[in-house]
Amino acid sequence: MDKDVVILAIESSCDETAAAVVKNGREVLSNVISSQIDLHTLYGGVVPEIASRKHIERINQVIDEALDKAGMALSDMDAIAVTYGPGLVGALLVGVSAAKAIAYAAKKPLIAVHHIEGHISANYIENKELEPPFMCLVISGGHTHLVNVADYGKYEILGKTRDDAAGEAFDKVARAIGLGYPGGPKIEKKAHEGDPTAIKFPRAVVADGPYDFSFSGLKSAVLNYINGCKMKDEEYSEADIAASFQQAVSDVLVEHGMRAAKTEHVKKFAIAGGVASNGTLREAFRRACEENRFTFYHPSPILCTDNAAMIGAAAYYEYKAGNFADWSLNAVPNLKLGER
Ligand code: KG4
Ligand code: ZN
Repeated sequence: MDKDVVILAIESSCDETAAAVVKNGREVLSNVISSQIDLHTLYGGVVPEIASRKHIERINQVIDEALDKAGMALSDMDAIAVTYGPGLVGALLVGVSAAKAIAYAAKKPLIAVHHIEGHISANYIENKELEPPFMCLVISGGHTHLVNVADYGKYEILGKTRDDAAGEAFDKVARAIGLGYPGGPKIEKKAHEGDPTAIKFPRAVVADGPYDFSFSGLKSAVLNYINGCKMKDEEYSEADIAASFQQAVSDVLVEHGMRAAKTEHVKKFAIAGGVASNGTLREAFRRACEENRFTFYHPSPILCTDNAAMIGAAAYYEYKAGNFADWSLNAVPNLKLGER
């Protein structure tokens, strides 16, 4: 039996300051998340400068709490892991600097984790039997990536968005119908009162990218629909707009995902990222996977949105592969998946 590997993981790429202690990539000993959502809600979206400042204020406390809750000390850790990209540069730098300082002072190895690799790895935590190969659709505020996970740390991107990310579309449509930030959960709630077939919004196809996505046309269609109603002095139902928009997003995501899994002969399908916490979307994937006889995986909502436990899960496989960072590690805001 291999020796246990316990990792302290840090995540600060956007508006959540997070730290977690994870054992052997799959057992979460603590998962502390300090969200800044209330602060950014005042501005209708994440303000990078405010995010960085808040990360600085909170990071040490969040790390201490993660160690406390795990009942462990820094000396018990086998490595320190941190998200180094993609994300907001100032926000990432806070986590990267903290991780480097701690690793250096405690003489521990440092592991650099890609944020999307983290989202994908969130699936390992509650599905102990899940192993690559599998297909994963990462749907968050910044990314919409259809990824063939060939092995641990081996990713092939089959498709991605050409414009807005899925979560970004939720946030923009929510703003248009006056629901506020963050849009995803608010649209989901509103959609429960509406009819998903009431308005026929477009399902975009990208001509030269069979698995690519485009959501900006859908967002414009929602805005045009609202403006059209206003000009004609007609009432419109926010609930029907929310439900019909959500249905349009769901249809495209499910169709692309199922087609990719079939073509690539992959039998396991996973979703990840903030948008994957959407219950209606999850149900659509569950049904589609059942019809196609794929095993369906998804993390709990708390592991879908940004957190450090997922970074600890990804870091374990980097640790096993011997991929350690040196003291020159920097934040890489536009880091591509599969790059080092
Ligand atoms: O993964 P995440 O926390 O951060 C990024 O890496 O971007 O994702 C945040 C995004 C936001 O756009 C938010 O509106 C969306 O996930 N989101 C949702 C739901 N909860 C969060 N979208 C749809 N339905 C939800 N329930
Ligand atoms: Zn994320």
